[in-house]
Amino acid sequence: MAEGDIPAISEIETLSFTTPWTEEAFRRELKHNPFAYYTVATHRERVMAYCGVWLVVDEAHVTNVAVHPKFRGKGIGKQLLTYVMAFVKGNGADRMTLEVRPSNRVARRLYESLGFVHEGTRPNYYPDNDEDAWIMWVNLK
Ligand SMILES: CC(C)(COP(=O)(O)OP(=O)(O)OC[C@H]1O[C@@H](n2cnc3c(N)ncnc32)[C@H](O)[C@@H]1OP(=O)(O)O)[C@@H](O)C(=O)NCCC(=O)NCCS
Repeated sequence: MAEGDIPAISEIETLSFTTPWTEEAFRRELKHNPFAYYTVATHRERVMAYCGVWLVVDEAHVTNVAVHPKFRGKGIGKQLLTYVMAFVKGNGADRMTLEVRPSNRVARRLYESLGFVHEGTRPNYYPDNDEDAWIMWVNLK
């Protein structure tokens, strides 16, 4: 991800989440967070999807992943996460984690298909509807 990708990412973010990150939040991540790695999937220079991860020693934490609604269901999300999993593994991660709404069946199926397992719950994690977050982990070794 480069700074010039941020307006397109912000559009996907707004189409995908009830409490989207601001453009400034992505800019801060790129410029000031040494643990952050952000990847985009593009087609003819158009951003179709993105995924962010924090890599701290041997653990990787997915911060966000989204595919533009026009490009969903074509295997892009799976390909992007597969790439990010290989990237963090190659840079020392043994385990990878993320949070997901239990109601987000598409995302849960995607994560489960990549080996993520529900290992914990953060009660009332999402402020818009007080939904719990499932904490999922995958062993990368
Ligand atoms: C979740 C998301 C990233 C998936 O990306 P995608 O490119 O549409 O997904 P893919 O086409 O790669 O499909 C991957 C898997 O997801 C599941 N899936 C995808 N679309 C599905 C649908 N409409 N119904 C049920 N499962 C579906 C399948 O298990 C699929 O694997 P399979 O094809 O091998 O069975 C995308 O839907 C998205 O951006 N959603 C909004 C943002 C979001 O919820 N992000 C996750 C926050 S935790």
